[in-house]
Amino acid sequence: MSFIHLQQLTKFFNKTSLKPAVDQIDLEIKKGEIITFLGPSGCGKTTTLRMIAGFEQPSVGSISIDGKTVSDSNFSLPPEKRGIGMVFQEYALFPHLNIEKNVMFGLNKWRPRERKKRAAEVLELVGLESYADRFPNELSGGQQQRVALARALAPRPHVVLMDEPFSNLDAGLREKMRIEVTSILRKANTTAIIVTHDQKDAFAVSDRVVVMKEGVIQQIAAPKEMYRCPKNCFVAQFVGKTNLLSGKLCPDMKHVNTHIGKVCLPQQSETMIENVKVSIRPEGCRLAEQGRYNGEVVQVTYGGEYQELQVRLEEGNSDSVEPMVIYAPIEQDIEIGSSVSFDITPELVALVE
Ligand SMILES: Nc1ncnc2c1ncn2[C@@H]1O[C@H](COP(=O)(O)OP(=O)(O)OP(=O)(O)O)[C@@H](O)[C@H]1O
Ligand SMILES: [Mg+2]
Repeated sequence: MSFIHLQQLTKFFNKTSLKPAVDQIDLEIKKGEIITFLGPSGCGKTTTLRMIAGFEQPSVGSISIDGKTVSDSNFSLPPEKRGIGMVFQEYALFPHLNIEKNVMFGLNKWRPRERKKRAAEVLELVGLESYADRFPNELSGGQQQRVALARALAPRPHVVLMDEPFSNLDAGLREKMRIEVTSILRKANTTAIIVTHDQKDAFAVSDRVVVMKEGVIQQIAAPKEMYRCPKNCFVAQFVGKTNLLSGKLCPDMKHVNTHIGKVCLPQQSETMIENVKVSIRPEGCRLAEQGRYNGEVVQVTYGGEYQELQVRLEEGNSDSVEPMVIYAPIEQDIEIGSSVSFDITPELVALVE
C-alpha cells in the first residue's frame, strides 16, 4: 500500500486561467522511499510540495498520508498536524537561536529533558553533535543545511519535504551533501520528497524520479531506467544529453531506419506506429576501429571526464541534419576534421514519443 497518495492533484492559482500550475497529478509513494520532483523552472514542483505540506489548498484532487486524507477540495488538515518536516531552500534557521535551540524548535510540546535528548540524537545523526552551542552564522553552508535537516527530522515526521536543498551550495559541497543527505534520510528511515531542477541531484539521491513539465508528470522511473528509457523527447533531452533521430521502424520491430543508417533497439518494439523517434545517448556511441557508423569530427569539446565530439555522418550527410554527439575517452587525441568510426550500444537507444 502506498504511504503517500496524490490523486488527480490540480492547482489553479487564477480561477479564470485555463492552465493549471499543477495538472492532475497521480502519484503513489512507498514508506521509506526518496522521491524527487525534477523539472524546469515554473513546472509546478514547489506548488506540489506546498500542497503536500498543507500551505496550499488543491483546486481539485486529494492527498493522503498514511491512509488518512489530509487534503481534498473541501478539507485541509493544518500543516502542523500532518507530521511533515520541511527543509526550505534558504534553510530558514533562526539566527538568534543556537543550533540546539534551532533543532528543538519543533518540539515545544515535548518534556524539556526529552527535547534535549532528541536534539542531541538528531545532531549526532547529522554529524554536528559538537556544534550545539554555535549560532547559524558560525556554520558553513553545508553545516547549516544539516542543521535544517536535523530540525526537520527532530519531531519524527512521517515525511520530510525539501525544496531545492542543494541550490545554495557550490559544486564540490553539493556533491558531498547529496551523499550525506541521502545517508541521513536512510538512517532516519524517513520518506522524503525532494524538489530540484538539477538532474544530477535527482539521480544521486532518489529511488524514483518524477519528471514534470508545465504541471504535468512526464515520467516516473528509477534514475537508471529514466536515463536508459526516457519516455518522450522532453524527458530524453531534460535528463542528460541525447541524439534524437526520426526514422521508420523496420518490419522486424527491432531496428529503426534513420538518416545515419539502421539503429538497433534494445528489444523488439510493441508500437503500432511506423514513423518513430529514437533517442541515442552520447555514451552509447563507442569509438571503434571499424564501426558500423563513420563520419567526420566537426567539433571537439573537452569535458574533463570525457570529450564531447560532434560528428557529421558520411551516410545521409546533409547540412540540414544535426551532427551526432558522442563521448570519447580523454586519453585519445582527436582533432577537428579527422575521421572516426563508432558503434551504438542498443541499451542506450530508446524509442521516444
Ligand atoms: N502564489 C502564486 N500565485 C500565482 N501563481 C503562482 C503562485 N505560485 C506559483 N505560481 C505559478 O505557478 C507555476 C508553478 O510555480 P512553482 O513555483 O510551483 O514552479 P517550480 O517548478 O517550483 O519552479 P522553480 O524551479 O523556478 O522553483 C508558475 O507558473 C508560477 O508562476
Ligand atoms: Mg520552486
